[in-house]
Amino acid sequence: MAKIPEKVIEAVMETASIVDVVSRYTKVEKRGERYFACCPFHKEKTPSFSVTPGRNMFYCFGCGEGGTVITFLQKIEKISFSDAVIRLAHDFNVPFRFDTEETVYDRKKEAYFDVYALTRDFFYNELRNRLKNSSIDRYLKERNLTDELIDAFKLGYAPSDRGKLRKFLNERGFSDSFLNSNIGLFSKKYEGVSFFSQRLMFPIHDISGHCIAFGGRIIEGDGPKYINTGTTDYFEKGHGFYSPPGAFREVRLTEEAVICEGYMDVIAYFRAGLKNVFAPLGTAFTENQADLLRRSGAQTVTVSFDGDEAGKKAAMKAVDILRRKQLQVKVAEFSQYKDPDEFIKNEGAEALKNLLKNSVNGLDFLIKNIIVKNGNLNSPEAKETAVSEIFPYIEAVGSEVGRDAALRLTAERLNTSEAAVIADFREYTRKRPESRQNGHPVAERKSERISKETHDREFFLFAALVAAPSLFEQVRRHIKANDLRSTKAREIYYILEEALRKNSLNSQSVLAKVNDSSVIDCIVEKTANKEFSPENLDRMVPDLIYRERIDILKHKIKEVQSKLSKSASKDRETVDELIRKKIFFEKELTKLLQGSERKTE
Ligand code: CTP
Ligand code: MN
Repeated sequence: MAKIPEKVIEAVMETASIVDVVSRYTKVEKRGERYFACCPFHKEKTPSFSVTPGRNMFYCFGCGEGGTVITFLQKIEKISFSDAVIRLAHDFNVPFRFDTEETVYDRKKEAYFDVYALTRDFFYNELRNRLKNSSIDRYLKERNLTDELIDAFKLGYAPSDRGKLRKFLNERGFSDSFLNSNIGLFSKKYEGVSFFSQRLMFPIHDISGHCIAFGGRIIEGDGPKYINTGTTDYFEKGHGFYSPPGAFREVRLTEEAVICEGYMDVIAYFRAGLKNVFAPLGTAFTENQADLLRRSGAQTVTVSFDGDEAGKKAAMKAVDILRRKQLQVKVAEFSQYKDPDEFIKNEGAEALKNLLKNSVNGLDFLIKNIIVKNGNLNSPEAKETAVSEIFPYIEAVGSEVGRDAALRLTAERLNTSEAAVIADFREYTRKRPESRQNGHPVAERKSERISKETHDREFFLFAALVAAPSLFEQVRRHIKANDLRSTKAREIYYILEEALRKNSLNSQSVLAKVNDSSVIDCIVEKTANKEFSPENLDRMVPDLIYRERIDILKHKIKEVQSKLSKSASKDRETVDELIRKKIFFEKELTKLLQGSERKTE
């Protein structure tokens, strides 16, 4: 059976107005921010059925029915979830298609490709016809952007006249209504006004070579250094790459790929003779992009990000994502130069190629950086933290031999005995036996007995975060998914993490991904009785975080304690390590209880 794409469900949740839908069945009346009505699900004379338009949810205080705009239609019409989505999509003009079918979308897609191809030509001709010694002309010289490069990448220039592109496209038969639909070329506020002006234009292509978006670098005037096409029906951040023509073919041939940060870096590598180079377009490198490289035949990926702190951090993440996809990962480091573009400018093309040859193994890079990050490794706590951050990466290594080498390397870098590191690692994997099978980063904890209080608090906190996802960033600073003991809470954590990465951290789209009905029920009820009002949540969430942190630490202390009591036969070093761990956790707990940390939040 054809499946309804998640995007359609999200769009329906965002567009379909619950007040409109409910009004078809019962008379609704506005009271404050909410609406009340006599419940259409049970007989009553005084209204106890409430609708919260901001969340697109309903709840009946009388009979307890509640849900989203989709489940409302489903329940009242006694139809399936899919049918409810289809009807709402129809009623509220949400473009709709099944994952397996392509109908209306196809024609629109063709028009989209056509308009982008023409626009690319337009910008390209503007650049080719630039005036000598104009600012764009001078900029090209300064960056060494030759005519050959301009042709290879089909670079362009967006003229200062913001009305010119529309005229050009009108003359080629494109209607204003099409140009002003969400195709990403014109201002949303002012119809027909080009989104890009006075910028060097980098056309972005999909894997089949269609131009689907642009990045534009500022040349004159005010504004951000780069602006990129926003989300359209056929382009989404985090899904494609900026790369030279023929890049994917090259990956198939060489089984290798290089990823770098930006437009100019891709061009720098191209100048050094490399075509299999990809930039993730102004976002963090995503799993989606790793999949794309793997599917294109890459076996080895070299990460070549900027040398600054942000670049290192992004590289660590990219290395981790790629390793989990079972790819060989290497890292090319630019210590003294900012990025590949600057490197090639100073050292030349050959040197850049050599740098790639001398890139370090991905795991080495991770270990090195974790150690550097944890600073003074003379303190046992720092070593402890470093080790616990390194283990998940070692666990993801595919072979026993590889893990062994990684453990030895860790011991060496930490200046500890190999035996201690190996013993700790055993302990770590013993606690997380299922993790290796599903290849998950932070290992899932085996379902252990957890107290009702812990369960309820974690459940409540994460249900609250679905209602108010913006508070998630605050939570994730203090609580790691792995610390949570409630499986449901952990699942929501991953959904929120994913949404954060995709820049779609809003209640409607998070809600659309939560399948657990007990979570939905909780949110619906608490929203209706105002427990989840913004003011309440702002107050409650920090408190819940605080209590959760205390609980997590107490739990960890208990774990260490129980290990200690079983470790009489173990070697001294292990026992010492455990004691140190315990002292560390206890110190943290005391700090928290004294409330010193709470005030700095
Ligand atoms: N980027 C972006 N929006 C910004 C800044 C950066 O989309 N406001 C993206 C671009 O894809 C850019 C990449 O992040 O290419 C790397 O940023 P940066 O290092 O600042 O740019 P460079 O490519 O090095 O550009 P330049 O050399 O022209 O400064
Ligand atoms: Mn850069």
